[in-house]
Amino acid sequence: MGTVLRQTWLAEGRADVPPDVISSSLWEEIAQEAEQCEPHSVVRHNQRPGLLPMRDGSITSPQRCRVHPGGPALSSLAMSKELAEVAGEATSQTKMTPIRFGFKFYAPGDYMHVHCDDGKCEITFSCGLTPGLAAMGWLPNLRWLTTEQVTERLADTPYPDGGEEFPIRHRVLAGFDGSRIPHWRTPLDSQSREVLITICFTDLTV
Ligand SMILES: [Fe+2]
Repeated sequence: MGTVLRQTWLAEGRADVPPDVISSSLWEEIAQEAEQCEPHSVVRHNQRPGLLPMRDGSITSPQRCRVHPGGPALSSLAMSKELAEVAGEATSQTKMTPIRFGFKFYAPGDYMHVHCDDGKCEITFSCGLTPGLAAMGWLPNLRWLTTEQVTERLADTPYPDGGEEFPIRHRVLAGFDGSRIPHWRTPLDSQSREVLITICFTDLTV
């Protein structure tokens, strides 16, 4: 598994977590936890227009959704040995640790403009807790450009043309190079809510 993960990461900036490494009972617990957390979630609404390059290499932009850091079930997924192994094998880092994770709740009209994650995120995992999520848009061919180059190219395009689709699968995590590859979610146009997980890992040896 290790070699394929590493090669895919280097070539494509993504790492698929084998579906069977996380038990279905843990997914059930996480889904229940999301239900319990939702009433206590807080609105994340960044309204500053345009792309803002940050000193850590990330790029922030407007977005709106609700967020919650989760509870014991989500923590146990984030802290699981299996996920750390995938993160470590893909990125070739030895001490991969989840530094940020949580639930994201999308209501109709919620959105996430093109951005790059916190520079400390060596790999960002995501999946859906509700089925049938629309794919995320991403531009893996811009992975190795500087923050300034990306900001310049995408300045006026919250949802860039010519992007590729990164599937957000139901209860199947996939990792991507979110701090280097610009990505976005167009406004949710269905009438139902969508729930996602994100888990970001960093290497603590550096
Ligand atoms: Fe992101």
